[in-house]
Amino acid sequence: MLERYRAALPLSETTPLVTLGEGSTPLIRANRVSERLGLEIWLKCEGANPTGSFKDRGMAVAVSKAVESGARGVVCASTGNTAASAAAYAARAGLEAVVVHAAGAVAAGKIVQVRAAGARLLPVEGSFEDAFAAALALAEDEGHTFVNSTNPHRLEGQKTAAFEIVEQLGGPPDMLALPYGGGGNTAAYFKGFSELGDPLPAIVPVQAAARLETVASAIRIGAPVHADEVAEAVAKTGGRVVTVGDAEIVSAWKSLARDEGLFCEPASAAAVAGLSGSGAEAGQRVVCVLTGNGLKDAAAFEQLAN
Ligand code: F0G
Repeated sequence: MLERYRAALPLSETTPLVTLGEGSTPLIRANRVSERLGLEIWLKCEGANPTGSFKDRGMAVAVSKAVESGARGVVCASTGNTAASAAAYAARAGLEAVVVHAAGAVAAGKIVQVRAAGARLLPVEGSFEDAFAAALALAEDEGHTFVNSTNPHRLEGQKTAAFEIVEQLGGPPDMLALPYGGGGNTAAYFKGFSELGDPLPAIVPVQAAARLETVASAIRIGAPVHADEVAEAVAKTGGRVVTVGDAEIVSAWKSLARDEGLFCEPASAAAVAGLSGSGAEAGQRVVCVLTGNGLKDAAAFEQLAN
């Protein structure tokens, strides 16, 4: 991905490229779900990235830039996927990685990914916001690079998914729906589509009604740090923020696995769960971003699938 989109990324001739082969993920037509909802639905399968989520696109750029700047390590706060990605790309680059997370709030598969890569886990009592504040302070103390989505290089990398979708479809879709946690990915897609020019798809970020308690642990975030950019993306594209309950998320999640053969994380299914409230019109072409792989959260299956 870094080589392919180099000209659109903040990479110079001398930036050392830290890559694990991220990007170039499949875009698959969802036949049965399309028929049920009366739309032409395509699924951007970001769980096919090296660590199993869309975070790898941004982490490849952020860690490359960290190495270029002479950093010894990276720090992040995470609900799990940013952590798994930061740990893997730091390992690849030979940097230290420290991951701060809300104790007990991260799916087991993601914890295993972090540990396997040899990164340091720092659980804190409290919410994602508490972990975020602690990680920011730690990055400053240690002189490490902060690799949450407030690091602009993350969003630069993540915007490449919009480029791929336009290439894969031969043009932009009418609508893009994606899960809304902190909103960084929404901001990144808006940036990517905007760089390609009009027409822009209506951007529809889908959030959990019970943000702090949702079964979709990846988007268990109380106060989205990119809320202003999300509001702008929605306003400028004629989209809307949709809110869905956990029952709708779980139902969409089961349907994706059973009707389409795509096992994603519960959080990812929010994109599909939000379509009924999205304002999409019959027959419109809609891309839903399946942000992470279902294998990361096996316990969710045991808990929710029956
Ligand atoms: N889907 C998955 C699977 C995620 O892991 C996340 C965010 C989102 C959607 C939401 O993206 O925050 O850009 O709106 N995960 C972050 C993490 C918070 O730490 O892994 P967003």
